[in-house]
Amino acid sequence: MSDLFPAKLRTLGRCFCIITGASRGFGWALAHKVSHLVQPGSVLLLVARSEALLRTLKEELRSFASERELHVHCVAADLSTRDGVNATVAAAKRERALADDVDHVLLVNNAASLGDISGFVSFTDLEQVTSYLSFNVSSALALTAGLLQVFPHAPGRRRTVVNVSSVFALQPLQSWVLYCTAKAARGMMFRVLAQEEPTVKVLSYSPGPMETEMQEEIRRLTGISHRLLPCHEPADKLMKLLLDYDFRSGAHLDFFDV
Ligand SMILES: NC(=O)c1ccc[n+]([C@@H]2O[C@H](COP(=O)([O-])OP(=O)(O)OC[C@H]3O[C@@H](n4cnc5c(N)ncnc54)[C@H](OP(=O)(O)O)[C@@H]3O)[C@@H](O)[C@H]2O)c1
Repeated sequence: MSDLFPAKLRTLGRCFCIITGASRGFGWALAHKVSHLVQPGSVLLLVARSEALLRTLKEELRSFASERELHVHCVAADLSTRDGVNATVAAAKRERALADDVDHVLLVNNAASLGDISGFVSFTDLEQVTSYLSFNVSSALALTAGLLQVFPHAPGRRRTVVNVSSVFALQPLQSWVLYCTAKAARGMMFRVLAQEEPTVKVLSYSPGPMETEMQEEIRRLTGISHRLLPCHEPADKLMKLLLDYDFRSGAHLDFFDV
């Protein structure tokens, strides 16, 4: 194992962490976990559209981590738009000045949407399909690329990119053509990143079915209820993977297999 990717870490280090979709659900749980595992002087960038929910989360994190220990910055941005992606990259650039000596840059691409789960042949509207893929695929690419430019390779600094994935990146499910296609495309996108950038460690992580608003939407649309995990369980396993740091860059790992 090289110094660049040291194994078995006790903390995430002095970390600059960006979490998209942090206003609720899995992203919210991840923000809590990360904030307990970083070293003083770390920065956490919380990204979603709902500014009020991000501010509430920031207040919660403030109750156990002081400003000196963890600087939390909320970015209210719609990642389905160019402006939203650019605003997030610009915020990271500004906040970088506060944390020049971070030793770990961690980006968690978590924000996503379920989309329409009508049958395949109903998707005749190119704009509807393009708009879904634009948010769920293109924006993750543009955002990751922009942030890797803000934080280029530097000696002594790890860079980790997590793609929050799903079993449906690998397995087709009838009526879920948009969701399955986007998760599969994201999986390949991040495998290419892993090949191209040996100084970036990349993980696609499938958290399993969780109690979130996305699952409420699924229940409402299909009438099907699954046994759901509380978000903190898959979040804990992801943190363990990031601390052990011995996953192969580009791997797709599932909550139920690790
Ligand atoms: N829930 C599950 O069972 C499950 C299973 C496997 C994988 N996943 C994956 O886990 C991740 C999180 O899912 P979740 O269940 O926590 O979803 P969720 O409850 O629907 O939360 C989605 C998050 O993404 C944000 N978001 C949505 N649209 C956005 C936009 N246009 N711009 C910026 N942020 C946006 C939402 O915040 P705002 O509305 O405030 O923008 C929210 O914070 C997703 O990638 C999902 O595919 C979920």
